[in-house]
Amino acid sequence: MSEHNDVCIKKTEYSKDRSKAEKPIKIMDLTLRDGHQSLFATRGRTEDMIPVAEMMDEVGFWATETWGGATFDTMHRFLNEDPWERIRTLKRYFKKTPFSMLLRAQNLVGYRNYADDLAKAFVERAVANGMDVFRTFDALNDYRNFETVVPVIKESGTHFQGCICYTLTEPRLGGKVYNIDYFVKKAKELDAMGADSICLKDMAGLMAPYDAYNIITAIKKEVSAPIHLHTHFTSGMASMTHLKAIEAGVDILDTCMAPYAYRTSHPAIEPLVMSLLGTNKDTGFDIKLLAGINEVLEKEILPKYRHLLDDTKVSIIDINVLLHQTPGGMLSNLVNQLREMDALDKLDEVYAELPRVRKDLGQIPLVTPTSQIVGIQTVNNVLFDDENERYKMITGQVKDLCYGLYGKTAVPINPEVQKKALKGYPKGEVPITCRPAEVLEPELSKAKEETKGLAVDIDDEVLYAMFPVTGKKFLKWKYGKEEAPETVKARSLDQALSEQKLIAKVRAGKIVDKPEKDKPEKSESARKFKVFVDDDYFDIGVEEIGGSPVVSYIQQPQMPRPQNSIMPPAAAPAPAPPAPVAAAAPAPAAAPAEADGTRLKAPMPGMIIEYTKKIGDSIEKGDIAVLLEAMKMENALPAPVSGKIIAINYKSGDSVAKDDILCVIG
Ligand code: CO
Repeated sequence: MSEHNDVCIKKTEYSKDRSKAEKPIKIMDLTLRDGHQSLFATRGRTEDMIPVAEMMDEVGFWATETWGGATFDTMHRFLNEDPWERIRTLKRYFKKTPFSMLLRAQNLVGYRNYADDLAKAFVERAVANGMDVFRTFDALNDYRNFETVVPVIKESGTHFQGCICYTLTEPRLGGKVYNIDYFVKKAKELDAMGADSICLKDMAGLMAPYDAYNIITAIKKEVSAPIHLHTHFTSGMASMTHLKAIEAGVDILDTCMAPYAYRTSHPAIEPLVMSLLGTNKDTGFDIKLLAGINEVLEKEILPKYRHLLDDTKVSIIDINVLLHQTPGGMLSNLVNQLREMDALDKLDEVYAELPRVRKDLGQIPLVTPTSQIVGIQTVNNVLFDDENERYKMITGQVKDLCYGLYGKTAVPINPEVQKKALKGYPKGEVPITCRPAEVLEPELSKAKEETKGLAVDIDDEVLYAMFPVTGKKFLKWKYGKEEAPETVKARSLDQALSEQKLIAKVRAGKIVDKPEKDKPEKSESARKFKVFVDDDYFDIGVEEIGGSPVVSYIQQPQMPRPQNSIMPPAAAPAPAPPAPVAAAAPAPAAAPAEADGTRLKAPMPGMIIEYTKKIGDSIEKGDIAVLLEAMKMENALPAPVSGKIIAINYKSGDSVAKDDILCVIG
């Protein structure tokens, strides 16, 4: 079914009411999901989407992506927002434009394959809450992982978009694994599953313009479903790739509003509207309306998020992607992880080890969750391996991958690594070859049981089932059973702007370091006053000594954090930024850390998932004592010696730093 795809210019004058093009390119806007996920670590709040929602609804987007991907995790973990509520709230403002979500197939919006009952319930609830388009992908392109969710999508009458994760092992399309035949074969598989559209999902920005042309041309010859291209700007090729994709007959493209575009995000919509204006592919969008939306985003919204933008580099592209064929977000995650472990000097070793680990693990595409799985295992190898032993610390997820719990890898896993990973693996040492979820026990009834008295409805239960540790914390905040920490609260525009003013002053040299002065301890009973002097304000504490009030301290509002302590945009590592309230940290005071015995220290920063033992229990050397989540990967930490657990210093959900003493064995 080849067709004539030439782009031809009909007229060039601009009018917002211009007549419709013969074959307009359809656009999905990603600002409200992938845009802030790529640039601002998915920290966008619902309240900051509402001011542009009604205007965006008028643009004429094919769909707007509002949900899924990392939003579900980030919202309940870092923003104290109910993810389900976002769909319902935004639906009140978007009356015409369909909503799209990114669904990680059987991984849903998490990092492992979930059981069928949970997968079904999740999709049903997403439909019930208002989702219209399910952009569905599997990190291994193993479509057996679609078999549970796709029938639920189809039966609900919503749109099933099947994705092919685009990945490479060579600098350009080709080689033994990821060549044009591979992508055409995958497109045919999706077509056979009844995909309403097919998306080429280039999460790393690897797709070169002429490769896009060739792939789309080849796929178009074989399938009739509309072709949708998702390509990140990271490497700098995406705008060129868009244009060649249009020439090859692509039907739908992904863009962001300009302030949320480029860098690790996507090309902007505005230049594309102008590029296609007056052609037979004209989007028909009103450029002035787009400008109006941009104005609100720039002035009212983005100042609140600016501090999250990674501006450590002048360049807005990352040529490492061209050099290493790995997603930019994954690289910044690795850099972040190495920095937290004081091992940034090992970065070159990580670059060298990464392709080896990826090959050992079956040359899998690198996209959540496989990018984290390969990335963290690479870091573990570089930090913990020695000349005598490789794969000394294998993450739980690598073990699951070796067992087959993620699906079939593009090429077989290195049998030696597989054997080592599966030694003592609880489900068995022989890997499975069936559809992964077939070996998973139902999960929902257990979640219902465990959230009795806390969860109020099925949405709460599904949230908890996917994220038991952080989900439980969130439900306690939601229902007022625990107070949410300051770190998850929203920043106001005023706060953000005064912070920016302060930065400007520092840059202009108007604020200098004052020499430290001895001052008495500030007591809890000090009364606080805000004192304004011209543009500055000071927090003043007044405390009584011997009956007469004296000023005991004056301090300026807290300075913005230095840039290097701010997480790079794509990084959404497990440990929350350290809570300012020290009291929230567990107090190892009651002897534990000082007790006689062998200490099990955290080999990396992370969050405690669980202790396998209680105080007083015996443990054998090598048995798993603690499960520690680092960068969303589980690390099983073995007991260094045999003995009795004499101290446990943290509890499930606590964040720990590298070298914190987790427990003591005596
Ligand atoms: Co993306």
